[in-house]
Amino acid sequence: MREGRVRYGYFDDETREYVITRPDTPLPWINYLGCEDFFGLISNTGGGYCFYRDARLRRLTRYRYNTTPAEAGGRHLYLRDRDTGQVWAPTWQPTRSNLDQYTCRHGLGYTVVRSEYLGIRANVRYFVPLGATLEIWQLTLTNLSSGVERHLALFSAVEFCLWDAWDDATNLQRNLSIGEVEVVDNVIYHKTEYRERRNHLAYFACSEPLVGFDTQREAFLGPYHGWHEPETVQRGQSRNSMVHGWAPVGSHHIQLDLAPGASRQITFLLGYHENPPADKFDPPGSQTINKRSVQPLIAHYLRSENADAAFLELRAHWDRLLGNCQVSTPDVHTDRMVNIWNAYQCMVTFNLSRSASFFETGVGRGMGFRDSNQDLLGFVHMVPARARARILDLAATQLPDGGAYHQYQPLTKRGNDAVGGGFNDDPQWLILAVAAYLKETGDATILDEPVSYNNLPGSETPLREHLERALRYTLERLGPHGLPLIGHADWNDCLNLNTFSTTPGESFQTTVSRDGRTAESVVIAALFVWAAREMAAIACWQGHHKQAQAYQDQAARMAAAVTAHAWDGAWWMRAYDHFGSKVGSHECEEGRIYIEPQGLCTLAGIGVDDESGRAEQALASARQHLGTPHGLVLQQPAYSRYYLHLGEISSYPPGYKENAGVFCHSNPWMMIAAALLGHGDVAHEDYLRINPSAREEISDVHRCEPYVYAQMIAGRDAPTHGEAKNSWLTGAAAWNYVAITQWILGVRPTFEGLQIAPVIPESWAGFSARRVFRGVTYSIAVERVGKGNACRLWVDGKRVQGTIIPLPPAGETAVEVSVKLGEPQG
Ligand code: BGC
Ligand code: NOJ
Repeated sequence: MREGRVRYGYFDDETREYVITRPDTPLPWINYLGCEDFFGLISNTGGGYCFYRDARLRRLTRYRYNTTPAEAGGRHLYLRDRDTGQVWAPTWQPTRSNLDQYTCRHGLGYTVVRSEYLGIRANVRYFVPLGATLEIWQLTLTNLSSGVERHLALFSAVEFCLWDAWDDATNLQRNLSIGEVEVVDNVIYHKTEYRERRNHLAYFACSEPLVGFDTQREAFLGPYHGWHEPETVQRGQSRNSMVHGWAPVGSHHIQLDLAPGASRQITFLLGYHENPPADKFDPPGSQTINKRSVQPLIAHYLRSENADAAFLELRAHWDRLLGNCQVSTPDVHTDRMVNIWNAYQCMVTFNLSRSASFFETGVGRGMGFRDSNQDLLGFVHMVPARARARILDLAATQLPDGGAYHQYQPLTKRGNDAVGGGFNDDPQWLILAVAAYLKETGDATILDEPVSYNNLPGSETPLREHLERALRYTLERLGPHGLPLIGHADWNDCLNLNTFSTTPGESFQTTVSRDGRTAESVVIAALFVWAAREMAAIACWQGHHKQAQAYQDQAARMAAAVTAHAWDGAWWMRAYDHFGSKVGSHECEEGRIYIEPQGLCTLAGIGVDDESGRAEQALASARQHLGTPHGLVLQQPAYSRYYLHLGEISSYPPGYKENAGVFCHSNPWMMIAAALLGHGDVAHEDYLRINPSAREEISDVHRCEPYVYAQMIAGRDAPTHGEAKNSWLTGAAAWNYVAITQWILGVRPTFEGLQIAPVIPESWAGFSARRVFRGVTYSIAVERVGKGNACRLWVDGKRVQGTIIPLPPAGETAVEVSVKLGEPQG
């Protein structure tokens, strides 16, 4: 294990912030602004970009990926001392001046960077108000010196993206000729392509009168100058440049004099606005933007009392969302992640799926079908109505045969043709998401909701039929062992058993060169069993017992196929390849044991209650062969070379990504499995290994943000074992949240009511929780009275049988639950 004992900040749990205390974090440590339609990514030095709804098609500001120094793009602020000519950036980038003091507080939906340099304190707060499509930057400058008046110049700068971020980065022959802006008073309007089919514009406004401005990048920076040394700032004079083509930017120039001890607040707004297509121009017939509808908005948010009020609303919004599930346990990392950061990350994945992070460029992938369904498990209790809408959107991209588009574009909500379907696990996740929604809300009406296929009007059926077809999709695609055919891939996108790619650069995900009628997936089999059992439970709940039995029979048949053909002796196999050979078996030279089937078979209940001991054995084998101090790796031994018949998994160097990296998404399946089998110590130990807060003290090994999960931590075969990558947008968020809240702490929604069945470490004396469920607030106190996981419940002082709290009579909104856990001694 690599050693590292460096922190770059600390958690402030009271304010729900992570406080970064030095700007040179190993990677830019980011946060997200915005909760609904307008989003910004913001780093600890003010970098990043923003967009309206779709990170590719409505990008406001330009961002350069994979650049040096890391992350040069963003929200630039420069200060210049007019007396000495000294220049610095109060957020450190892009000048990287040696600031005397620096902190960045990433909070829920906002970021505050504070610094001191040359006796000037700068404090800048960035956030997106609820319901608005703009970012507010509130900058306060304070003269800390006693006795000296300070004469400062302040320059802002953003670089506009020409809306379609992909086109912006690639289609230069056109784009360098189309940039247009208007400048009126203290507002710079970006209007590229507004003359033709766009009716949206961006604006960058400032609360102060301007001494000057710039809108042309080269005029602002100076030829061959970078963002770290704009000529305009160095000279202390804007050029009032108007852009015509090339690169539109927005830069305000403000002068301010600060008496000793004095402070001044300056507000910037960076926003998106749409005009009615018929009313785009003012006067009509001209080419001038109609600014009548946007100006009042700008005026509103430029007033600091309005901006402050919007900030308080944002805080209250997050208090409300997080208030639905709060816990107090003996472990600070558990509390912090459950109460704040893990829940927050679940909301961010809800909003963005896998589209825009510092590892996802926002120009490629849309919303994943499998991803979004799983993300839902982590946010359904915070925003049930939005979860409902998301389910209906996803189901509408399902195809008539029950399969699904693998991705869809958030702006159009249409399936993405370039990637298509044929990821044969996709449909099952829809069932699991709907089941989670039903358990959380009890809202069975969603099952009758008419939903189209492939978004085709006229093709609507009730949602329940979509679920039915999802099951059928798998049953109609079984291979030689009666196990589901894998198609392009299953949960593991990189296990490509039908691809056989020899062409450099060819997509492993979409290339198919074999007929796909032999390679079978144990993961899809387990998912099917699990989903069919959920369908049975739904049917039962609705009183359809015959139908429930039919689903149970389907599940049992598939479970039997798994037992007959996928038990390898000490663990579950992973797949049969195109030639019918085993994958993830002791017979294999490499890749003998995989994590996914060990977790998922147990979650599906296969080998759990049948005296076979298989689930226990699979768990023990997984821990023995896959366990590392940084979590369980995806498979072992890692593939040491490229295997044509296995595909992308073997394309990664050993220890990275799917080739034996620690996947923080599949680890929680093992935690849940451990909890299901009653092993609280094991489950929680595994939970802590990948819990970002628990890894904070090895930040220079882990390198990604210590407040959110990353997709992957380099496995033991990697030279950088323990190093995380692909933070923020990952199924790890939802699954870790589910593992800790529902299975380890055991506060679990069911169709009949909230269940309390903790499987916590033996050493814990108990914990308490506050959970809002179907409009009722449950205050839960769990006390350990002995060893084991046996549970006795008292609800409002009365003993109830079993572990499910009966739903209270209508009108009752608060319920007290006390739980005695374990067998009392003697
Ligand atoms: C990655 C996978 C990812 C897939 C999606 C692969 O290169 O390794 O983790 O799911 O791309 O496109
Ligand atoms: C990331 C993808 O978003 C997810 O869908 C997939 O399951 C994992 N990679 C594993 O390959």
